[in-house]
Amino acid sequence: MAISHALPLLLLLFFLPALSAINFKYCNESGYDYGIVSRVEISPNPVRPEDDDSPSFMVFGTASKASKTISDGAVQVAVSLKSEDNRRIILTTYDLCDDLLACPIEPGKNFVLNISEVIYSPRYEKEGLFSVTLLDDSGESDDIEEESVTRMCVDFYLPTVASTFVSSA
Ligand SMILES: *[C@@H]1O[C@H](CO)[C@@H](O)[C@H](O)[C@H]1NC(C)=O
Ligand SMILES: *[C@@H]1O[C@H](CO)[C@@H](O)[C@H](O)[C@H]1NC(C)=O
Repeated sequence: MAISHALPLLLLLFFLPALSAINFKYCNESGYDYGIVSRVEISPNPVRPEDDDSPSFMVFGTASKASKTISDGAVQVAVSLKSEDNRRIILTTYDLCDDLLACPIEPGKNFVLNISEVIYSPRYEKEGLFSVTLLDDSGESDDIEEESVTRMCVDFYLPTVASTFVSSA
């Protein structure tokens, strides 16, 4: 009796902290010299496409000790659509300092990109590959979107209610 009740509880406690974490890849497949991303969390997980509330993303990473400080960066959230030859649509570009309050990112330090209220449309369900790109000023122009270098980029599909049922079946 006691065991049959304890087991589900143990399993629940074990999995609870990972509930909002999702699988991700580096956009360039092999990863970036700038550092690593350790975890991507989304909320709600799964996303409920029929709801009006837009999802939030949290990207946890660590800058390598050899990286340079990013003091004036930007974070771009984009979605690529399979049905349109992977056309990449930039949804929002956030200022790393003013919007995300995440600067500076210093060598060897952890960083968190806390991105709330991502623009979401039901058509991104199933075919929308989301990406979060950390951009840094190349130092050659005042316009970060014109003259920027990608320091880090991860991409992922958002689990939806439908895909969660499929994957657990
Ligand atoms: C990914 O980016 C890093 C630089 O940060 C580079 O060294 C590596 O070769 C890139 N990988 C691919 C597959 O382009
Ligand atoms: C993330 O940002 C949102 C809105 O800006 C804020 O309400 C929330 O507390 C932040 N979460 C963390 C863990 O910093």
